[in-house]
Amino acid sequence: MRLGGVILKFLMRFVSQFKCIVCEGSADPPLSAGTCSACDDDFATLDVHYDMEKVAKSLTPDALMARPLMHWRYHELLPIEPNEDAFSWPVGWTPIVEADRLAAWAGISRLRLKDDGRNPTSSFKDRASSVGVLHALQKKVERIACASTGNAASSLAGYAAMAGLPSTIFVPQRAPEPKVAQLLIYGAEVRRVRGTYAQAYDLCTAACKQHGWYNRNCAINPYLVEGKKTCGLEIAEQTAGREPDWVVVSVGDGCTVAGIAKGLMQMHELGFIARVPKVLGVQAAGVDPIACAFETGELPQSPETANGTLADSIDVPVPRNWKKAVKYVKATDGAYLRVTDDEITEAMKATGKLAGVFAEPAAAAAVAGVKRAVTDEVIGKHQDVLAVVTGNGLKDIKTAMAIAGQPKEVDP
Ligand SMILES: Cc1ncc(COP(=O)(O)O)c(C=O)c1O
Ligand SMILES: [Zn+2]
Repeated sequence: MRLGGVILKFLMRFVSQFKCIVCEGSADPPLSAGTCSACDDDFATLDVHYDMEKVAKSLTPDALMARPLMHWRYHELLPIEPNEDAFSWPVGWTPIVEADRLAAWAGISRLRLKDDGRNPTSSFKDRASSVGVLHALQKKVERIACASTGNAASSLAGYAAMAGLPSTIFVPQRAPEPKVAQLLIYGAEVRRVRGTYAQAYDLCTAACKQHGWYNRNCAINPYLVEGKKTCGLEIAEQTAGREPDWVVVSVGDGCTVAGIAKGLMQMHELGFIARVPKVLGVQAAGVDPIACAFETGELPQSPETANGTLADSIDVPVPRNWKKAVKYVKATDGAYLRVTDDEITEAMKATGKLAGVFAEPAAAAAVAGVKRAVTDEVIGKHQDVLAVVTGNGLKDIKTAMAIAGQPKEVDP
């Protein structure tokens, strides 16, 4: 709180403009979600640009030393101004775990895991939710809503509860019970949509429009992608001087991978790291629209043709943020690849047993991606890799037990 006060004292505005990702035209900042009004394109999302000269004068290594270890320490690179409330909600500054035995399993010399499952609601989505909830409070909106395969929902419900803001959550039929339990316990109004994630998303968008609620759907809310960016800012600060060659991230809607790549690039521009790690986006083989778009420039699949994956959090056949996800990964000279469900389950077991990190399937996909990338010679055996573990495995015990098997029964 006290350190938050230090930041507030020096607060200035650093955003220069909101720009359309397609036509690059300048756009008015939306209340929450919004696409470019000049483009007739649902995927023309908005991107936040900053006055980097001004940021460089304020976001310095010395300044950072005095700031709390949470994501608001990078307030110059966030699109809204934190207040004292924001500093009382913990978020970010998750640990980086050295994973030597997992590196040997993946066939590389060094592997580190950024364990974002240790955020307060057990996924990296807390980075976006804290921004969304604070923004909704500042805009004096009476309710915040989102549609989610699970983690964004439980995260939003948690931060709305911390802030005392009512929330409504739309989840698809397939959302795992522990994630639904989490949001019910946080006191959210829950609507389980008898249909897919895409249908839950459309219903949420319509409800927000009709009732004037704050729309926390990350892909078309430019503020929230900036929240996810703090994972990339942290990776740069935490690894500075020994930054990895590759940062590996699993991909659903594409917001996370785009945010992390943008964060790494901004920290390079500010001189915190000497080079930008390449970013590798990992998709499930059964739901790979962004990997395809990276290769062809177009979204190939309709929901009917996607084959699904056990990694529910990245089961996103129509990703709303694919253009940013392709653009930013290209800008790091990175790549995309696909992993099968068998590779994901093998990686989930290996990550637990060899690194002591319990990853949910979507998070383990990133670790599976490291091994696949080495096999495919995308990543060299002597390269240094950091994989982001985006969510904790306790969130989906049914899948974990199906993978791990049962304990041996013994007599007392
Ligand atoms: C655990 C986990 N990993 C990865 C992702 C993918 O993030 P994005 O949809 O921003 O690409 C999600 C999204 O829900 C997630 O919950
Ligand atoms: Zn446009």
